[in-house]
Amino acid sequence: MQKSYIWSLPTRVFHALFAVFILLAFLTDDDNLLQYHAIIGYSIFILLLFRIGWGLFGPKHSRFKDFPLSIKKAKEFLGEMLTDKSKYVGHNPMASFVMIAILVTVFLTIVTGVLAFGIQEGRGIASGLNSSFFREMELFEEIHEFFTGVLIALIVAHLGGVLVDKVLHGKNKTLNSIANGYKMTDEKEDITVNFYQKTFAFIMAVLFIGFLLFNLNTPKNVLTASVFKPVNYKQENSLFVAECASCHTLYPSPSFT
Ligand code: HEC
Repeated sequence: MQKSYIWSLPTRVFHALFAVFILLAFLTDDDNLLQYHAIIGYSIFILLLFRIGWGLFGPKHSRFKDFPLSIKKAKEFLGEMLTDKSKYVGHNPMASFVMIAILVTVFLTIVTGVLAFGIQEGRGIASGLNSSFFREMELFEEIHEFFTGVLIALIVAHLGGVLVDKVLHGKNKTLNSIANGYKMTDEKEDITVNFYQKTFAFIMAVLFIGFLLFNLNTPKNVLTASVFKPVNYKQENSLFVAECASCHTLYPSPSFT
């Protein structure tokens, strides 16, 4: 068995950030944390853009065309799973289907999230579509949640696959490879990352970090701002405040002011 370099640094950093940010998105699923939830969603979109670029012209094994996406191969793979054959250095056919499904589902989750944020909450880039009808109906939130359900199922499938692989083919060190990049393979084969790929990964990393810093500095930007103007009831009803508010609460309720 040979020790081969399979996953480049950008691939591994992407994987870690993708996992952490999806976890953060689940953790910020709360009305009070919607602002953070949205920024995390947009950040995952940047990660997704990187992964699509990487899938089109990234290094070997990360490219989509190196994903063995075929039902026939998947059947063969399942049949040979208990044997010692390790035909696939990168993703195996089952993993390939799950990976593509995860990327597609995350994309649909983000799109429906942006729509729910805009149509129902009147915030972000789709805020122009805001409608009180859908605000009550919560349709887009429901669709968004449906896709998160699909995503959870896919993540469980992914972790299940990793576990099965660990038990059946632990000696290939597949699990370690997502951390250190190295896997045990029949023949020695190392990937290389060329100048253009490095440049692309670098630009995307700068974009990602820049985006987070920008949102920390400018919480109210086109991605999160609301179409509703906050009303300062105290200011609008100064006479009432001066004359009557010592006994009567200010309409609509103190929590809005
Ligand atoms: C010192 C306290 C106090 C101040 C100041 C005060 N109110 Fe009142 N107000 C009351 C109380 C107590 C009632 C209830 C009287 C009752 O019906 O028993 C009342 C009742 C009312 C009602 C009748 C509500 C109803 O349900 O019929 C109106 C209208 C009202 N206030 C308007 C005002 C306005 C306008 C101001 C300011 C110019 C004002 N109040 C200032 C204590 C106050």
